[in-house]
Amino acid sequence: MRVFVDSADQRQIEHWIEQGVVDGVTTNPSIMFKDGATDLEECARRLAGVLGERPLSVEVTSNDLKTMVEQARTFATWARNIVVKIPIVNEYGESCLGVMHRLSQEGIGVNATAILSFNQALLAAKAGATYVSIFAGRVADEGNDPAVTIRNVRSWLDDWDLSSHIIVGSIRTVMDIQNAALAGAHIITIPPQFLPKMVDHRYTRETVRQFVQDAEKTLKEMSKTKVAAPGAR
Ligand code: E4P
Repeated sequence: MRVFVDSADQRQIEHWIEQGVVDGVTTNPSIMFKDGATDLEECARRLAGVLGERPLSVEVTSNDLKTMVEQARTFATWARNIVVKIPIVNEYGESCLGVMHRLSQEGIGVNATAILSFNQALLAAKAGATYVSIFAGRVADEGNDPAVTIRNVRSWLDDWDLSSHIIVGSIRTVMDIQNAALAGAHIITIPPQFLPKMVDHRYTRETVRQFVQDAEKTLKEMSKTKVAAPGAR
């Protein structure tokens, strides 16, 4: 399973790359705004550079299907690792599958976004999306269990040998991450604030404290024995 960071915060992305756990990054216009990006192109080029070969998802900003295609083509020229996020439908409910299909035929990586149901994921995969982004938190907002959707989509993709990979986004709690991983997500995109919570545990700290204290005692004893040992140099 791969881990993406759901953020446009370069410092956070670099920090978690150094920790060795980042396989890619996803953004959307709300994340860019929250993380202070003022220039989409500058931000996308900068983050794509930080990521090296790892994918960076950048979302189109229009409801108009023709504009989506044009924006996607432009985004793809900014860096080789940019994947374009296309919503499954625009805000008027018009299908964006044709946009996904066209871009994927042109060799542009597509992340089908705002997926809330099995059938949306099925069609996005058929249209050629590289990634299908299931929004776990928003699925749960509507009273449905995201683990069921994730598990069903994963088993259907595997059964039919389709190459689309599931990204689980819209993470609201650390438990969502565990549930998505166990339900079969290929990738989970994690907002950076959850990563320290995943690493830390108060009892692990206590355990390490005991070991460090005992190590100090043991080293003291060892050095005494060494000094006392006959013929010791
Ligand atoms: C990721 O690709 C999504 O854009 C993001 O996780 C959406 O999260 P939200 O439901 O908190 O907006």
